[in-house]
Amino acid sequence: MSMRLFGVRTLVLATFALMQAAPAIAEAVPVKLPELSPEAQTGGQLFIQNCAQCHGMVGGGTNNGPPLIHKIYEPNHHGDFAFLRAARYGAKAHHWRFGNMPPQPQVTEAEVQTIITFVREVQRANGIE
Ligand code: HEC
Repeated sequence: MSMRLFGVRTLVLATFALMQAAPAIAEAVPVKLPELSPEAQTGGQLFIQNCAQCHGMVGGGTNNGPPLIHKIYEPNHHGDFAFLRAARYGAKAHHWRFGNMPPQPQVTEAEVQTIITFVREVQRANGIE
């Protein structure tokens, strides 16, 4: 994880709070974390709570799921609708070999929107547009 993570205070506090509850999740690919907009910080916290166990704390992927900070998930290939659909209905394994993504009914559509803002800002910081 990049040192720049330490500039993002809110996200870091949430991260550390969660890390105390659960072991740290190692990212499969290195991710540079930019200064996040307030909405993206909210989305980042929701991402940690709902998506990180498979997609990594900042979207770098784990042994359970793929990195979302990846060219496959650039906005032109997986638009915002793909995120809303994945959260509501899950996703059948097709790009990777991690198995299916289960639906995440605990996350509201408005929350997914903030998660999308988070993912897009981190994608841009890593040259994925
Ligand atoms: C239990 C593990 C797990 C969790 C939790 C999880 N995902 Fe996934 N997700 C996966 C896997 C595995 C795939 C890859 C499926 C494939 O092979 O293409 C995936 C794929 C995706 C995709 C791509 C869907 C497509 O159309 O190809 C998006 C977007 C996504 N996840 C977003 C999220 C978001 C946002 C959250 C949190 C709200 C989340 N995921 C939580 C495992 C998970």
